[in-house]
Amino acid sequence: MAIKMPAMVIVGGFFGDEGKGKIISYLAMKDNPSATVRGGVGPNAGHTVVYEGKSYKLRMLPSAILNKQTKLMIGAGVLVNPNVLLDEIKTFNAGSRVLIDSQCAIIENTHIERDRGGYLKERIGTTGSGTGPANSDRVLRIAKMAKDIDSLKDYVGDVAFEVNKLIDDGALIILEGTQGTFLSLYHGTYPYVTSKDVTASAICSDIGIGPKKVEDVLIVFKSYVTRVGEGFLPGELSEEETIKRGWREVATVTGRVRRSAPFNFELAKRAVMLNSATQIALTKLDVVFPDARGKTSFEALPKDAKKFIEDIENSLKVPLSIISTGPEVFDTIDRRSQLRIMA
Ligand code: GTP
Ligand code: IMP
Ligand code: MG
Repeated sequence: MAIKMPAMVIVGGFFGDEGKGKIISYLAMKDNPSATVRGGVGPNAGHTVVYEGKSYKLRMLPSAILNKQTKLMIGAGVLVNPNVLLDEIKTFNAGSRVLIDSQCAIIENTHIERDRGGYLKERIGTTGSGTGPANSDRVLRIAKMAKDIDSLKDYVGDVAFEVNKLIDDGALIILEGTQGTFLSLYHGTYPYVTSKDVTASAICSDIGIGPKKVEDVLIVFKSYVTRVGEGFLPGELSEEETIKRGWREVATVTGRVRRSAPFNFELAKRAVMLNSATQIALTKLDVVFPDARGKTSFEALPKDAKKFIEDIENSLKVPLSIISTGPEVFDTIDRRSQLRIMA
């Protein structure tokens, strides 16, 4: 039997929008973690969670929102837009379980304005959420911090301390990454990248967790690849072909149409390496294999879908533990007990 791991980091394996929100909300409902903690850049991320026919959109709070037992924290490395955060706290009535690190840097209107014109908008195709300019001010040491913002005072604390304490007490913690490996400022397709590293090590650093406290890294891949904004997308399909295959998606934050390509084994291998992934979650299997829709056991999947999964495991040499077969939280095949990975 595998040993229970202290904490799990979840990261995107391609260019973001792999469906991390869905996977995290499933794990939050199934495993009942004490806390989920957001790392990553900031409100440039957009997660969609679907439960019992209702759709929930999140940009700042962790995707465990549906489990009311789970604390929702935001690590110091994450940029906070107070308006977006306060709005989500209100919408989800989540105030009593939110803790944001006092050292989170703040996105101000000037950052958003700078992000919505000129080089960043036209050349890079950013999300326009102000994250790049805010991180730039943070590096220049002129950014405001969460502890300076009056409207956040009820939610501010020492996330690094609280998370380390929970882990030391043996609690189950999910560390939530955003964006995707190839949007990393260091390891992605520079300059068409986001404003920080977003691989598993960076997510830990955002939160204040040392490398020895995390042994489980779950990498999320979609059954095909999508990308929004500019930058190289190997194997990119035409818009016509994207529509024909049913792979057309519209971005949560910006409303832009996502470009698409078939699942890329070479990129996936590199992503596994960069993140030291120990498990894989695969989403949108139903979009590529419609007969997989809503299935909850591996045996019930169509033959070609099973083969696709086996090809991924054989090629990447990492167990594919979670398979998503629809947008609903429980449209999920959980193979962890068969693969002898502890839930
Ligand atoms: P980022 O942090 O922005 O990278 O977001 P994300 O990885 O959470 O993904 P996002 O929510 O932006 O996009 C995924 C979309 O696919 C959402 O609309 C989900 O509801 C949907 N989705 C997730 N898993 C599945 C699945 O297995 N099948 C289908 N049909 N839809 C899914
Ligand atoms: P920025 O992070 O807003 O500066 O945008 C830089 C690049 O990263 C652009 O190509 C964006 O489309 C992309 N990007 C940033 N965050 C996300 C995300 O959550 N999902 C998908 N693409 C993203
Ligand atoms: Mg998204």
